[in-house]
Amino acid sequence: CDMRKCKKSLYMIPVLSKSSVGMRDPKRVEQILTSMRNAGPSTLQVISDFDMTLTRFAYNGKRCPTSHNILDNSKLISEDCKAKLKNLLDTYYPIEIDSTRSVEEKLPLMVEWWTKAHELLVQQKISKDHLALAVRESEAMLRDGYQQFFDDLHQTSVPLLIFSAGVGDVLEEVIRQAGVFHPNVKVFSNYMDFDESIWRKSRPLHLRYPNLQQPYPDDATLMIWSTDEDEIRPVLLMQRHSDWINDVIQGVLRAFKGELIHIYNKREGALLNTEHFKELQSRCNVLLLGDSLGDLNMADGVMNLQNVLKIGYLNDKVDERRQSYLNSYDIILEKDETMDVPNAILQYIL
Ligand code: C5P
Ligand code: MG
Repeated sequence: CDMRKCKKSLYMIPVLSKSSVGMRDPKRVEQILTSMRNAGPSTLQVISDFDMTLTRFAYNGKRCPTSHNILDNSKLISEDCKAKLKNLLDTYYPIEIDSTRSVEEKLPLMVEWWTKAHELLVQQKISKDHLALAVRESEAMLRDGYQQFFDDLHQTSVPLLIFSAGVGDVLEEVIRQAGVFHPNVKVFSNYMDFDESIWRKSRPLHLRYPNLQQPYPDDATLMIWSTDEDEIRPVLLMQRHSDWINDVIQGVLRAFKGELIHIYNKREGALLNTEHFKELQSRCNVLLLGDSLGDLNMADGVMNLQNVLKIGYLNDKVDERRQSYLNSYDIILEKDETMDVPNAILQYIL
């Protein structure tokens, strides 16, 4: 295919001719886009990775955090644990992006990374109510143009599935704080399991502290209120002298729920969530967004699939990985921190 001619035939989406955009087969992209546009919005669904796909990879030359890193860098983690998590990142991230190693070789190492990191996080007794603050204080950023992306999908009732190997509770908070967690958004990810058993045992007692967003001062007096009847009355006063009280009030992280999702088992994850895809049976066209080669299988659970257009962000080690990305994604975006291409494509299809 003559590259210039094909790009010309994609003139309806001018942003595709930017130098950061690469396509192995522009003619094929053209055909998929035409077919999706003709089929209309009622047949479309979007499946996207989260970290480094919907969020920025870098800002002003500095790396932006993944959902894991938001926790790793937060006040919720001790200095000692931070050092250990950083050590894991320095060990395993280079393996994740190493184009000389096969997926088979990387897979057990990635499982090792996720498992070790989750074990460390669980030791930190992270409380649920502090997650929002950790996100607010973090440097996580959705890519430029995210508002239009989320709002366009919402307005046209196109379902958006976010399929992430990150931390579900954290990434949900990122999109909630950005004001774009619309009802058409669904998330498959690793969710934290907070221990609220003591809390449940103490019902109908209800614990109150004036400002739950603030860390508790060590000598804080906590009040336990009875909510038995209509009347709410204090029944007990306690000094915060043990972690136990902290656990009672907020529920602390004790494990991660369900099967671990890491970057190389998204296919299995998709196939486990058949209920979701069953509901979307009439949506046979998929726009898939990812940044890792592990994201390519995210649409494997889709029923009656007709067309899938795969867009891949190539954020890091661009020269080394260009060819493999061109071979597997339909459109690659090199060091592009924006949602411009997905947005322009949605404008064209919707
Ligand atoms: O949402 P997504 O599937 O992209 O999440 C996975 C990303 O999280 C990986 O690209 C990996 O670099 C990162 N990660 C991390 N800390 C961990 C495990 C994974 O930052 N402990
Ligand atoms: Mg990612």
